[in-house]
Amino acid sequence: MSAMRRVVESSWLFPCKNSRTSVSRFFKTSSICRNVMPAWVIDKYGGNDVLRFSKNASFPIIHYPNEVIVKVFAAGLNPIDVSMRGGHGAATLSMKRDPLNIHQTGSEFPLILGRDVSGVIMECGLDVKYFQERDEVWAAIPPWKRGSLAEFVVLSANEVSLKPKTLSHTEAAAIPYVATTAWSALVNTGGLTRDNCAKKRILILGGSGGVGTFAIQMLKAWGAHVTVTCSQNAQRFVTGLGTDHVVDYTAGPVEVALAALDKFDLILDNIGGSTESWALNLLKPWSGAKYVTLVTPFLQNTDSLGVADGMLQNAATVARKALKYLVKGVHYRWGFFAPSGPALDEIREMVDAGQIHAVVDETFSFAQVPQAFAKVEKGHARGKTVVQINKGADDV
Ligand SMILES: NC(=O)c1ccc[n+]([C@@H]2O[C@H](COP(=O)([O-])OP(=O)(O)OC[C@H]3O[C@@H](n4cnc5c(N)ncnc54)[C@H](OP(=O)(O)O)[C@@H]3O)[C@@H](O)[C@H]2O)c1
Repeated sequence: MSAMRRVVESSWLFPCKNSRTSVSRFFKTSSICRNVMPAWVIDKYGGNDVLRFSKNASFPIIHYPNEVIVKVFAAGLNPIDVSMRGGHGAATLSMKRDPLNIHQTGSEFPLILGRDVSGVIMECGLDVKYFQERDEVWAAIPPWKRGSLAEFVVLSANEVSLKPKTLSHTEAAAIPYVATTAWSALVNTGGLTRDNCAKKRILILGGSGGVGTFAIQMLKAWGAHVTVTCSQNAQRFVTGLGTDHVVDYTAGPVEVALAALDKFDLILDNIGGSTESWALNLLKPWSGAKYVTLVTPFLQNTDSLGVADGMLQNAATVARKALKYLVKGVHYRWGFFAPSGPALDEIREMVDAGQIHAVVDETFSFAQVPQAFAKVEKGHARGKTVVQINKGADDV
């Protein structure tokens, strides 16, 4: 580690980011003499048939001094990749995209998906002190940035963290997006910490997928009592990750089985739909107990109503529901993915201490990206789907 991590938002330092020439004085002469790279891209939104392998995707450029170029060894897939392929969030994410990364046509296409990366730093911007070339790193890539289904990706150093030494790149790529989402939901929104979890009763609705399998392990490492809902054939799997109590949601009305248990301090909802009509009744009232759902209409609202009206609608919905449940003595919250190198630093320590294991459901080669999408799209995940991009993905 070459220096203390300094969290810098490069665009604050260089607000003139809208013109290529205005920032060119901050470029460093690249040691990588390439203009193109192999990548899986989409040129329009749709089903799996829009995925196209390109040998000539444009090579990433360091536009800001706090950025790094990472050679991708392995890329994890998430449900958001499938929904982004179909156009979900397109209007909202386009607003957030850096104009320097929009193609000359003014379009986001060709778009590269893939939110998890494990790989090696090839080049650092001039302001990067914490990392150096050849560092092995992992990161969760925000959905408004070019993704990891490519040979290289450019990221802000704030989003990157040194990879756990005990994991191969394939294993490491199974963790960052679900881990930073669970961290944001449980720690930032839910108020849990390693020091206040002991004896807390936590319910995870949907424990067998990517977010659930990570959240179980993190909460168990912090001493919580963890109850999980999953289907019957995942019961042994989630118990093996440390779950204290499992409820099979396919065996009958899950809310009835859960209501027979002691009440909970926090519920993490990975399922959504009708769950919030009964889940908040399972919380301990007047004790600060929280329900945090990851399944929200946030992007749907901003996509359909536009960013301004959609945000108003989102704020109104959350406020109305929060108030409705506040008078019953429990807290209602929406949880979101938040990119965070510092959170991944803490998660790395838990991984290297043996408290958290990567849960890889299935691995695909770079040539099999459409099959990997089909697998994620089918649902019934038992952990994560990972694509091996470069040779060496299995090296620890
Ligand atoms: N808000 C955000 O920023 C954010 C970020 C990440 C993820 N998410 C969302 O969070 C959700 C979970 O993400 P993930 O990556 O963990 O998804 P995932 O890997 O696809 O896992 C979903 C899991 O839920 C299980 N399941 C399905 N229906 C269930 C039910 N009624 N009760 C209990 N378990 C059920 C599935 O297995 P079976 O079907 O075999 O039971 C599967 O194991 C997704 O909807 C995702 O879009 C939101």
